[in-house]
Amino acid sequence: MKQAKCMLDKDNIIGTTDSRLFGALIEHLGRGVYSGIYDPADPSADVQGFRRDVLDLVRQLRVSVVRYPGGNFVSGYHWSDGIGPEEDRPARLNLAWKSLESNRFGFDEFVDWAKKAGAETMAAVNLGTGTPEDAGYLVEYCNHPSGTKWSDLRRKNGHDQPHNIKIWCLGNEMGGYWQIGRLSAEDYGKKAMETAKMMRLIDPSIELLACGSSTTRLSSYPEWDRVVLEYLYDQIDYISIHHYYGYDNELGDYLGSFVDMDRFIRTIIATTDYVKALKRTPKILGLSFDEWNVWFHSRAADRQRPPWEIAPPLLEDIYTMEDALLVGAMVITLLRHADRVKMACMAQLVNVIAPIMTQTGDAAWRQTIFYPYLHGSRFGRGTALDVDVQSPTYHDDTFDEVPYLEAVATWDEADERVTLFAVNRDLDSSLALEGDIRALEGYHVV
Ligand code: AHR
Repeated sequence: MKQAKCMLDKDNIIGTTDSRLFGALIEHLGRGVYSGIYDPADPSADVQGFRRDVLDLVRQLRVSVVRYPGGNFVSGYHWSDGIGPEEDRPARLNLAWKSLESNRFGFDEFVDWAKKAGAETMAAVNLGTGTPEDAGYLVEYCNHPSGTKWSDLRRKNGHDQPHNIKIWCLGNEMGGYWQIGRLSAEDYGKKAMETAKMMRLIDPSIELLACGSSTTRLSSYPEWDRVVLEYLYDQIDYISIHHYYGYDNELGDYLGSFVDMDRFIRTIIATTDYVKALKRTPKILGLSFDEWNVWFHSRAADRQRPPWEIAPPLLEDIYTMEDALLVGAMVITLLRHADRVKMACMAQLVNVIAPIMTQTGDAAWRQTIFYPYLHGSRFGRGTALDVDVQSPTYHDDTFDEVPYLEAVATWDEADERVTLFAVNRDLDSSLALEGDIRALEGYHVV
């Protein structure tokens, strides 16, 4: 049997893991919202139509922050279609996913749902077809106390107190050729800068994220990030990056593909720090990896779906054990960068490339990837520790030498607990792991 060794030490500190590292995305896509988190026809639905069994599972995962309403959907979304009396809400074409949007669920419902799920809210504004002014009105609707057109409308719609949404994404994947209203890095930089200005004038306490690269496969990566950061460094709190992995992405070995995720994070940190030096500023920017997951099983079937269905089953990947290993390795990769990656969202949460699945009338169920996320969320909070690893390696044409063992540890000082996260990437054979815990005096293995 192959043999690996690791050494744990509480002094090998990477950084504090921000609880926002365990977030998720809910988008108006497929059955994510309708017949996912919201399904008045399901026996488990509460008075607001929210599935209680789904809420239970989301609380079990301790999802700390939920990003909404997209995803690609947001780049054509008119948020004011989704507020007010149900019968007045128009049906619209969801161009991003070629389906029909009823607008039964909107920002007010989202905020209520997130409260029940125990999660913080993170909103994205439309920088595709939307204007800086529309984005400002949404902040006014959500966060301004009262006495103005939009804040009074919120109160009339049943929410006397402001929603107080703190985290705001300045658009979604605006450099991607698939994005509605796609912009060049320069045009995005200028539009996002003016949008940020308006949003902050309305609520100076908000935190802002700019779109970084949405995959390492785009030819604009990482130049996009440099240009965008040169425009926005002073205005934003985080740069947002996205990546999905799967067998169809030509990234070489499947279980090695998170090595690409690791290099992606390192490259964006380097780009960010380059712009920091250029600006002569002491401000250190955080990263938000607010879309990550395995996505490939459903792609062929999705191409066959007829257009303009209401809540069609799209992106319904059914995950394997192998996918769970990759998700585990991705959780480890995020923890290994806990000093700079301060926020992350698994994409998505329910039915759409998701850890939780539903069918109307049946109990919600957990996919394989539910478990590595759960382990990260339950045991990954505290201080991330670098683990000294000695592992046999294998050669991969894309990633060169890849170690079989991938590991990180976290230290929960209050509970006096150190957790070792480890993945054996070898699908054919076991890997014996010897742990040296001499530096953890008084600790024992449980
Ligand atoms: O999560 C699915 C899609 O992937 C999102 O809508 C988009 O942001 C990304 O390309």
